[in-house]
Amino acid sequence: MRKILLFCLLSYNLFIIPCPASDNMQVYYRDCISLNGEWNIIVDPYENGYYNYRLEPFDQMNQAWATGYYGDKKMQSPGDLIEYDFDKSPVLQVPGDWNTQDPKFYYYEGTIWYRKKFDAPELPDGRRVILYFGAVNYRADVYLNSKKLGTHVGGFTPFYFEITDFLKDSDNSLVIKVDNKRLKEGVPTLNTDWWNYGGITRDVKLLVLPSTFIKDYSIVLESSSEKIIKGKVVVDGGTHEKIRIIIPELKVNSSISPDENGTAEFSFQAEKLELWSPDNPRLYRIEITADNDTLIDSVGFRTIAVEGKQILLNGKPIFLKGISIHEEYATDGGGRVNAAWQAEQLLDWAKELSCNFVRLAHYPHNEDMVRIAERKGIMVWSEIPVYWTIDWKNESTFENARNQLRENILRDRNRANIIIWSLANETPVTPARNEFLTKLAECARLLDNTRLISAALEKHYKTDYVAVVEDPLANILDIVSFNEYIGWYDGLPEKCNQVSWEISYNKPVFISEFGGGAKYGYHGDIDLRWTEEFQEYLYIKSLNMLDQIDGLCGMSPWILTDFRSPRRHLPEIQDDFNRKGVLSEKGEKKKSFFVLREYYKKK
Ligand code: GCU
Repeated sequence: MRKILLFCLLSYNLFIIPCPASDNMQVYYRDCISLNGEWNIIVDPYENGYYNYRLEPFDQMNQAWATGYYGDKKMQSPGDLIEYDFDKSPVLQVPGDWNTQDPKFYYYEGTIWYRKKFDAPELPDGRRVILYFGAVNYRADVYLNSKKLGTHVGGFTPFYFEITDFLKDSDNSLVIKVDNKRLKEGVPTLNTDWWNYGGITRDVKLLVLPSTFIKDYSIVLESSSEKIIKGKVVVDGGTHEKIRIIIPELKVNSSISPDENGTAEFSFQAEKLELWSPDNPRLYRIEITADNDTLIDSVGFRTIAVEGKQILLNGKPIFLKGISIHEEYATDGGGRVNAAWQAEQLLDWAKELSCNFVRLAHYPHNEDMVRIAERKGIMVWSEIPVYWTIDWKNESTFENARNQLRENILRDRNRANIIIWSLANETPVTPARNEFLTKLAECARLLDNTRLISAALEKHYKTDYVAVVEDPLANILDIVSFNEYIGWYDGLPEKCNQVSWEISYNKPVFISEFGGGAKYGYHGDIDLRWTEEFQEYLYIKSLNMLDQIDGLCGMSPWILTDFRSPRRHLPEIQDDFNRKGVLSEKGEKKKSFFVLREYYKKK
């Protein structure tokens, strides 16, 4: 395992796109200094603060007169020409998207500069400072005291920089150029059915750590029968004294020695281990110490596997009673989820629906979402935004997708409730796409061969009323997942009575999307589109059809709540919202909610 992983990390280093750090940090329960709150901003659609008039980036020029906004300059003498001033500029809240903070930014796609001033923390006995971002959508160029720390691309995964040597005692100027322009070669690419929320959308924090600290670790239940637990700890820093793993409730207290790279592996047999499951989301406190650093976490142990057409959780077949969720909280003006209580509210609605599973579409959600779901006993499908018509032949697009997959897996690989890594959504079958996703699947397995690999495929028709899934990618995935919209995009709900399915893979079958739109409170006959009655009838017909599929192992209907999309323009019904939620964007339950809940209660 270690050799494979090493190959994987080495191979990444060969192609890695410019990104701040070549590995992961576990920070969730660490004490930190939050940099959340008000940041001064400069809206810069022409990127005047980044390029000179010849479109040469200031941060690649060493002329003293380079006037990039990252310099955070102030007028010193009457003759100075400085055409910006962060201190006198407006502010935005961090974390948070800009689109919903100010009507001026509702549709804005481009660059906004963010600036935060802060004093350096005390750094006794060689302590080190890490600057950590939960996520920035889409590209972040990061500067501290006019020096470029680096660049991160990808709007939904964490990244960090060590800033120990760049700090001044006081008045440090942290400047981030955030650019959410959609790009053909991006991941996602130009077209999506969700709002392109830009900004520093998740937490920004400073971590003050000992000179040798525990950077990352992995832990997994290797075998539920023998209760063998295996893992790895990575320390960063000079001295590599003993590392101690303590899980009090399992009476584990073992000491391990790191190698010259600061990596130490461990393995032990656990007595009386309670396995994590939706009915018993058992978590254990784990303490990892090295020198004078301690990393605390809570972890669950379970196994997930496929046997024929069944998914086995802890060796027993399980049906995934799911719902898809976008990371959007629409009440209070809406926007990207930016607080744990918003994530909890969405998951509480999923629990009310009698779900034991959520598909976190179409990108990695914030860490609170995953960890709160873990505590609530909700299994997770975790996905990267390889969505629709990605630029399959572009090598940098592949490296971008691979880096986002890697950052997603490394952040969340210790979460017992994540059972599926999804590589893509509704991607048209072509040779270039097949090669791209086959390589991506290999990367996923190299990084984590303990979970199922999937992707939301598309259905086709073999005859007028025989629907099939025929996709070469299905041969390498662990489950056959697909989206279908019979009764909404494809005929009317009655068509569900006529369609039969032929899924010819000896694998579990998962319906990653189905559904249709309804405006909450709009009522009429079942044949009147956009009424709650139409959607309710569509759910009844869809569930009746899908329930007959041989090997059906679960589903995640589209979608929990209505969400903003720039593709949805029908006045008085959509008004920039995709209305396929079983709840409105304010959490109001539509009639379809009760149909789905009834179906799950009987499962
Ligand atoms: C697609 C896609 C979703 C989209 C949905 C819809 O299946 O995966 O992202 O929102 O259809 O059209 O509503």
